[in-house]
Amino acid sequence: MDKDRGKRLAAEEAAKHVERGMTLGLGTGSTAAHFVDIMGVRVAEGWSLKGVPTSEETRRQAERLGIEIIEPDETTVIDLAVDGADEADPNLNLIKGGGAALLREKVVAHAAKKFIVIADKSKRVAALGAFPLPVEISPFGWALTVAAIRKTLAGQGFDKSELTLRAADGAAVKTDGGNLIIDCALARIDDPARLEKALNAIPGVMECGLFCAMTDMIIYGDEDGISIAAP
Ligand code: 5RP
Repeated sequence: MDKDRGKRLAAEEAAKHVERGMTLGLGTGSTAAHFVDIMGVRVAEGWSLKGVPTSEETRRQAERLGIEIIEPDETTVIDLAVDGADEADPNLNLIKGGGAALLREKVVAHAAKKFIVIADKSKRVAALGAFPLPVEISPFGWALTVAAIRKTLAGQGFDKSELTLRAADGAAVKTDGGNLIIDCALARIDDPARLEKALNAIPGVMECGLFCAMTDMIIYGDEDGISIAAP
């Protein structure tokens, strides 16, 4: 399967929901990057659009394309947020955070009047959890927070979960906000909403990568076209 074509087709479909003058939440990752590219074309065609980026990487891309950047602190209105996902279930619950931008992505998606997810079809799963769940935590007392996450997971029935501090080139990955990411290998999450609530209640956890009951529509793409999942 040509995943990139699927990502592009999904992004093109999402672009049909954009109207002139909108303030857009701009997601992070290779699929969201297609959407940002298309918005760059609209701006070059003379459309007035503003973008609230969910990462420094997306900010750089949007700036290169001439999209006017709005800081999240400068607006209380986001008309539409469009972002990718690492996994999505039939109830439109998501795992996000593969690109370490989950806190900013969730703030923007939650604030948006409408949240559309775009993904290649490989992201569609019967149940979440094969993709290790990212949890963004404060660096302060991080080992204590990891111990608390482990305890909470055990209380939720995940006795043998493997927790890994995300690292690259021998150093811990820092998010744009200076936080750390703990990847939790859980295999299968039967009640994502309950787990989201339990993890987000731990002091030191900034956000977990479960996005439950937030998504208005998922547009899946593959080389043959798109399909839409909506509540
Ligand atoms: C970043 C994310 C991304 O949306 C997710 O990782 C999907 O990325 P891609 O479109 O490259 O597959 O959550 O934090």
